[in-house]
Parts: sequence; structure tokens; C-alpha cells
Amino acid sequence: MQLPDEMIEYSFQRLVAPPLEPWTPLAELQAQHFLPQERLEPARQALEKVRGQVAAERSLQNPPARLQPLQAGFIDLPQQQLDAFRRKGDASELGKVNRLAARLRENCDRVVVLGIGGSYIGAKALFDALCHTYHNELPSKMRMGKPRMYFEGNNFDNDTLADLLELLENTCVDPELPAERWGAIVISKSGGTLETAAAYRAVRSEAAKYYGPKSDWLKKLIVPITGPAGKLRDLAHGEGYSDDDILTIPDDVGGRYSVFTPVGLLPAAVMGLDVRALLLGAAAMTKRFLEEPFDRNPVLQYAAVNHLMNVEHRKNIRVLSVWTKRLESVGLWYDQLLSESLGKQGRGPTPVTSVCTRDLHSRGQQHQEGARDKVINNLFVRTAKHPPIPVGMADRNEDDLNAVSRKTFPDLLDAAFQGTNQAYQEAARPTADVVMPSVTEHTMGQLLQMLMLATVVEGRLSNLNPYGQPGVEAYKRNMMAILKATPNLPRGEVRDAAKGV
Ligand code: PA5
Repeated sequence: MQLPDEMIEYSFQRLVAPPLEPWTPLAELQAQHFLPQERLEPARQALEKVRGQVAAERSLQNPPARLQPLQAGFIDLPQQQLDAFRRKGDASELGKVNRLAARLRENCDRVVVLGIGGSYIGAKALFDALCHTYHNELPSKMRMGKPRMYFEGNNFDNDTLADLLELLENTCVDPELPAERWGAIVISKSGGTLETAAAYRAVRSEAAKYYGPKSDWLKKLIVPITGPAGKLRDLAHGEGYSDDDILTIPDDVGGRYSVFTPVGLLPAAVMGLDVRALLLGAAAMTKRFLEEPFDRNPVLQYAAVNHLMNVEHRKNIRVLSVWTKRLESVGLWYDQLLSESLGKQGRGPTPVTSVCTRDLHSRGQQHQEGARDKVINNLFVRTAKHPPIPVGMADRNEDDLNAVSRKTFPDLLDAAFQGTNQAYQEAARPTADVVMPSVTEHTMGQLLQMLMLATVVEGRLSNLNPYGQPGVEAYKRNMMAILKATPNLPRGEVRDAAKGV
């Protein structure tokens, strides 16, 4: 059951245009850039239709060509996993996630997560939002045995990978000691993503060097997560894994919609997060989406407001303005979700993540006075995790802060939040708020599911297929052609070969 004060809400009254009477220059400007009240009623009708369509898509066995690809599996998956766990316990996929996570937690002090795009950024968002800001720096006792986490395989970045391998080599010397053992989770739904596959080779060979090429630790401490078929599964079979040691991403769940499959759940469980609460939050959001009227339905509200701002008010830049550094990676996760889902056919809003108040000192100027092409969605958290830190009295008051000595950091943030919204409002810059009561597994479950559902609704409203990312293939094709067209030699020797040396 979900308590009302745990629920995420979307509040958009600030960007609804006020009546033009009495006429003022500001009211005129707001009428141009804000949403007319009378536009909401027809929007509600369109939303009802789309909600029905999205709900029906969940059970389509053979979707017509115009709906393909269709990957609506993410919508019901959180509840289905909770149900399967209740019924089958350890034999369910969630039971398997718990078992493998416990194995990693109990046997190693560092875990490397390899993956890119949807196979990476959701887990990173959970890590940044829910773990200690300096998790990896904490002594093991303070981490309560939870391993340090690293994210790689999301780039061809020679130097970050080399730094990671160097760190592992220098901090892990004796594989007999649990504190010096490390493991990895390799994630690729297709199994054919070069960034992840190449990094896996490097990491696996490092592990083979450390534990020995035939050591049982290799299979125990490296967990593959992949689709039902593909190169990574084949490779894992070749390395001696049984299907019981491999976690599966369901076919009907797309990469960037996969945070509540083992892709996000295994790293989350390794970090010691409450995976059940994450799923309960996500399932609660699906239920609200399917059952609640517009006024109590953050998915429909968010999708409608942002869709109208984009297509009718030409706000092509969508800023997710997060009011805690802990949610910056949620912004990056949303960047990917929105770009790959709706950046199609020459259309789709451009996502931008902004961290407040940090970026008020960079982007703030542009948001206040730059091109009128933006809608700002604040992501605001009502209650901080730690007790509020006061400004405090000081003997020296050259900084003039004694006047606010009893205010706390949350008070300062709150004042900045209100002051910023007011400033944007008075310049007819549209802003709305996603409000989280606090950052917990349960609210993170709601938030990520809300944004995924809203993206699908928006896609259907815009007549764009929110699933699939055909455009991403172009660079991959070129990259492979370039790699195959040059001799398979190290960099320096390729240059020499080209010069005929
Ligand atoms: O949303 C998507 O499907 C993509 O962003 C993928 O997650 C990304 O390309 C990684 O793919 P894979 O998991 O197959 O390695």
C-alpha cells in the first residue's frame, strides 16, 4: 500500500496562462508562452484515447507493422516480478537476482558494471541517488559490506578503462582475501554492443590473470545479463555458464525501458538497495497511470503538458532541472530515454539536464533571458536524507550571514527554488514541478516508471514509435566498416603500414 505522502506529484499550474483581464504586458507574454486553460480539456480526451491504446498494447501478440517494434513489457513487469517472487521465491527471476547479488556482496569488495545506454545508466542513476555520495571511499564497515561500484564499458575510453584496471591491480593483490576480491556484471541485451563487448574482454582477461584462467571465481564473480539469445549468451555458455548463472532481459522490454529488469535490479541489489521497494514504487505508478483520472495522474499530466509545450508552443528544449546533485544521473538517464524514444522523423524535444543551484550559475542566464525555446521541469525533493545543517552564528560576520544563522541548507535551497520559479514566471518562462517527498527506493521506482510511461504516451500522442532506435545503427555500421577496412594491427603499426614502412 502506498501512503499519500510517499507519492510523487506533478504540478503544472504555474505554466497555465492566467486570464488576460486585466491586460498587462506580462499577461500578454504569458498568454503567448504558457498553456491556455481551455487547451487542457481537449487534451484530456486525446489522453484518454492514448491511455486506452497503451493499455491495449500490453497484450498484443502480433502487433501490426505500424506498431513495430513494440516493447510494452516494462509496463507490467514490476508487479509481475513481485507476484512471481511471492509464488516461486528463490526460483523466480527476482529470487535469482537476490541469490547472485548476495554472492557478489559476500565474496568481493569491488564490482565493475559493464554496459552502455539502457544497459548502464539506470543502475548508475540508482547508485547516485540512493547510495552514500562517497560510497566508494567509505571503509568497508561503514559500507556495511556493500561492495564499491564502478561503471565501465560505456565508451571506448582507453584511459578510464586503464585507470580502472590499474586500480584493481594495485588494490587487489591476494584473491584469497574477500577484501581484495573483485567481480563484474556484464550487461548487453543484444550481446553485440562493441563498447561493452570490448571492455568485457579486457576485464575478463584481467580477472583470469588475477584468479587464474581456470578458477571457479571467474564464473562466481562475473555475472552476465543479456537477452534470451545472442553473442553474450553464446560466449557465456562457451565460458561454462549454465542458464541458471545468467540473468535474462525479457525480449519485450527495450534497453532504455529495462531498469526494472535484472539490468537495474542486480546492481541495485549488490549495492544493498531494497529492490522490492523499487518494484513496489514502479508498480504503484503503473496502477496510477492505468486507473487514475487526469487530475491525480502524474503520467498523463506530464505527458500532456510537455507534449503541448513541444508541438504547440515550440518549446523544443526540455530541461530537467534537478534540485539535488544526487539526481543528476536521473537526468542523464532521462536524456537517453527521451532522445532515443522521440528523436525521430526530424522531430522530438531535445533533453537537457540541469543541476540546481549549481547550473543557475551557468545555464540560469540563458533560461531567464535566452531563446524562448524551453520548458523547464523541476525535479524537487521535499525532504533531505540527513538532518538539516544550519548556517550557524559566527563571531566574524563580514559575510553577513548571521542574519540567516538559523536557516538551514534545505531552507536555502527552498528559497532558491521559489525565487527561481518566480523569476522565470515573471519573465513568462514556463516551469512545472515533479515533486518527490524524499529520495527512497520507493519514490525512485515511481519516478523512473512515471518518466518511462509518460515517454510512451507522448510518443503515441505525437505519432512517433517510442520503442526502437534505428538511428543509432548508422554509426555502428560505419564504425565496423572502418575497423574492417584497416589492417588488424596496433595503432602505431597501422600508421607504419599505411606509410609503407
Ligand atoms: O535503449 C536501447 O535499446 C539502447 O540504448 C541500448 O540499451 C544500448 O544501445 C545498449 O544495447 P545492448 O544492451 O544491446 O548492449
